[in-house]
Amino acid sequence: MSEVGVRDCSAIATLHSASFRRGWSEQEVEGLLLDRHVITHRATTGGKLAGFIMSRLVEDEAEILSVAVAGRQRGRGLARRLLHLHLRRLAGLGARAVFLEVDEHNDPAIRLYHRAGFREVSRRPSYYSGDGGKTADALVFRRDLL
Ligand SMILES: CC(C)(COP(=O)(O)OP(=O)(O)OC[C@H]1O[C@@H](n2cnc3c(N)ncnc32)[C@H](O)[C@@H]1OP(=O)(O)O)[C@@H](O)C(=O)NCCC(=O)NCCS
Repeated sequence: MSEVGVRDCSAIATLHSASFRRGWSEQEVEGLLLDRHVITHRATTGGKLAGFIMSRLVEDEAEILSVAVAGRQRGRGLARRLLHLHLRRLAGLGARAVFLEVDEHNDPAIRLYHRAGFREVSRRPSYYSGDGGKTADALVFRRDLL
């Protein structure tokens, strides 16, 4: 696991688009990777991107912007290890609190965050839109870093 460079933007855009309803373009990923407030870690297997996690850190508050693991690599603890490394790095950079939003139906992500000590602090009703006009709430999670 390591920090990400701009050379990874194409692989991150591909993995992000495969993992989320609204994918990021390569240009959007490049813009984020060049942002000095954005911290990104990746995991590779066999030289290929297997997962990444990205946050924005402003002063002492961080927001996790995205975390994704490639379909075939899921369920093996990769996201847990990436998140653990990422939180240690954020703490080292001065973060005191970390926030994120997650779809209320995203069980793997909710388990991941609960296990890492995040707690729900609020809910944004009908924040995500799905097929056929369906909506889902966003849960806002927070974890304090000491
Ligand atoms: C969420 C995601 C990053 C988890 O990655 P992962 O490497 O499979 O996660 P881990 O193997 O570290 O497992 C994390 C927890 O999720 C659980 N989990 C994994 N797959 C699951 C599934 N299909 N259903 C329910 N729980 C699941 C694991 O059991 C683990 O919980 P545990 O420690 O209590 O057993 C991955 O599913 C993903 O990329 N999803 C699409 C993108 C996404 O939704 N990102 C989060 C946005 S907030």
